[in-house]
Amino acid sequence: MRPLRVCLAASEVSPFAKTGGLADVVAGLGRFLGRAGHEVRIFVPLYQRVAKSDVETTPLEGAQAIDVKFPGRTIRCSIRTAPLPNSDVLVHFVDCPELYHREGLYTDDGDESLRFAMLCRAVLDTCQRLSWSPDVVHCNDWHTSLIPLYLRTTYHWDRLFSNTKTLLTIHNIGYQGVFPDSQLAAIGLDDQRAHLHHGDLRDKRFAFLKTGVLHANKLSTVSVTYAREIQTSEFGMGMEELLQTRSSDLVGIVNGVDYGDWDPATDPLIPHHYSADDPSGKAKMKAALLQRMDLPHNPRAPVFGVVSRLTSQKGFELFADSIPVFLQREDMRLCVLGSGESKHESYFQWLRDTWPQKVGLYRGFHNELAHWIEAGSDVFLMPSRFEPCGLNQMYSLRYGTPPIVRRTGGLADTVQAWDPTTREGTGFLFDEFSSQALAGTIDWCLRNWRDRQGWQQLVKNGMQRDFSWDRQGAEYVALYRDLCGL
Ligand code: ADP
Ligand code: GLC
Repeated sequence: MRPLRVCLAASEVSPFAKTGGLADVVAGLGRFLGRAGHEVRIFVPLYQRVAKSDVETTPLEGAQAIDVKFPGRTIRCSIRTAPLPNSDVLVHFVDCPELYHREGLYTDDGDESLRFAMLCRAVLDTCQRLSWSPDVVHCNDWHTSLIPLYLRTTYHWDRLFSNTKTLLTIHNIGYQGVFPDSQLAAIGLDDQRAHLHHGDLRDKRFAFLKTGVLHANKLSTVSVTYAREIQTSEFGMGMEELLQTRSSDLVGIVNGVDYGDWDPATDPLIPHHYSADDPSGKAKMKAALLQRMDLPHNPRAPVFGVVSRLTSQKGFELFADSIPVFLQREDMRLCVLGSGESKHESYFQWLRDTWPQKVGLYRGFHNELAHWIEAGSDVFLMPSRFEPCGLNQMYSLRYGTPPIVRRTGGLADTVQAWDPTTREGTGFLFDEFSSQALAGTIDWCLRNWRDRQGWQQLVKNGMQRDFSWDRQGAEYVALYRDLCGL
């Protein structure tokens, strides 16, 4: 079987541009595909923070000064590249300062739709410039969801793409890229209204993600359970009916973990290393974490860790009626790293101010601290309202930090309930989205914490689980081949 040409388009890729798990998945899958001998090009915007960082990028020959034509306006971009660390894969950065030199990756600016329509167009225009004919364009989330429609319309004439198939992976249906239909003209789709979702157009809007779901050849999402959930009104966020109509083209593939980045035996970001066979370094990491977060150390007091975007998806409102009881009653620590909605940030600040000897908080994004918390905590908290896949719980398993999770999406697919009788299982799960259910599970976890031998087995079970890309990536390759008949 010949190697595939895969064009991986996304708004994030680690370590260059990251706000959440999407970045890790694009990098992990890209690396896997490269290792497996496929020809991969990863496309992301050259954001200001990358352009101004010490990341060295070089101009990609043959892909300079590309004029992308929109109605009444031409936008020029060039491609710069840098190797994806620990691989031969090249990341292609779309250099277009007028669109991407903004403070964050995402904005509320009036041209947000154009910023990502441009990404979609730049990917395809670059393929043309390079005469590179991808077998698959793998789109990820709403930002790259217009590619399938552009291929069917604007680029339909070009035989370069006549055998190109598209896969759209939904990482999070909570973000759909919805804009007023008055913006269609600027992105060159005003005369393609017949191809857009009619209900949305009636409401004078359009959505990138829905357009992708309508036109991609295949759809996937990042866990088997979430693939089922998003076809229901509880989780579909208004897209359930559309997804039901494409049910036979929708598959769930659980994300892989890049153990090159996330393994306590080799992680360069932590000072003490350990493994399932020799876990002794974990106690040192616990002491180091507590010192770093300015909290008193007691080996017997469990440390609960949180590393998260602080949005309603992640379920932290369940803390209000549960966590204070435990902080009051138990000798425990809580180490939180997160940023997002101010109500959640203020709540964690209040916990920190109220129990300064028990709660540590870092508000913001801090990759190294994320690794320390995974390694130095005893329990990882992830009570998500919904979770397409979730990477943190898988990282925490490998770092010997059993997770407490709600049984939803990828959390249900990757964490197995601990059973002290059979000594099987890797973490603690609850079903109902309520503070009582969470509190009951924390209580259950604490009872198991006191059984030191049982706990050691629980930790070991989790550390031995394998979610590596070698397994998960092979599922994508099978899907690509099926799609292309190759
Ligand atoms: P999501 O993509 O919904 O945010 P995931 O669990 O899939 O959830 O992935 C989150 C990723 O983002 C993990 O790699 C996690 O370590 C990282 N992360 C989240 N918040 C922060 C933060 N404040 N600082 C550093 N890393 C973070
Ligand atoms: C999304 C989801 C998360 C998933 C990640 C990568 O941001 O919220 O569950 O792990 O994408 O697929």
